[in-house]
Amino acid sequence: MIKIAVLVSGSGSNLQALIDANLSGQIVGVISNKPEAYALERAKNAAIATAVIEHKHFPHREAFDDVMHQQLLAWDVDLVVLAGFMRILSAKFVKAWQGKMVNIHPSLLPYYKGMHTHQRVLNTGDRLHGCTVHYVTAELDAGQALAQGVIQVGVHDTAETLATRVHHLEHLIYPQVVESICTQTIQYTDNGVLFKGRPMAEPMQFCKF
Ligand code: GRF
Repeated sequence: MIKIAVLVSGSGSNLQALIDANLSGQIVGVISNKPEAYALERAKNAAIATAVIEHKHFPHREAFDDVMHQQLLAWDVDLVVLAGFMRILSAKFVKAWQGKMVNIHPSLLPYYKGMHTHQRVLNTGDRLHGCTVHYVTAELDAGQALAQGVIQVGVHDTAETLATRVHHLEHLIYPQVVESICTQTIQYTDNGVLFKGRPMAEPMQFCKF
């Protein structure tokens, strides 16, 4: 059984969706860089081990990442799932977990990397928006996309309503992608990502109009 660690900084609603999904893999631990993150409560309620590693206590990014790395090794983790983890990871850490670490981002990547995606979508006047699950690479929000969830932007949408709608979609697609990794439906290989044993040309698509 694949052992999963989830890295969080905040509310942890995606963590909750992963817990509720009864994955084939086991969530063996949750790491937060914020002691007040509600995600830690969710983990404790589900009897999942937690570790608080506060980045502000470390002199530089690599030192913080090293401690996280050691914790992941101690839990014997196979897959790292970033779920609202609000720290940029060092290149060394990303390399160590290459092909074993995924993230969910609230935009249709490659559009709107970084922060404030909902407002930026509104500012541009886009008709479509959504979220992307992707492998993590050293470049921010740039690894291969595994799945995308798409919603239509309505005339009455605000940044807040978009955030809520995209969040619901995240809860739908993230567990499905993680489950696909657990069951090896999705596989990371030196020759690229495979879906059911064949090269994955397109991310899985989910639409909620
Ligand atoms: C999500 O919107 C996700 O896309 C982004 O951070 C947010 C985490 O929300 N990476 P939650 O903590 O899972 O509720």
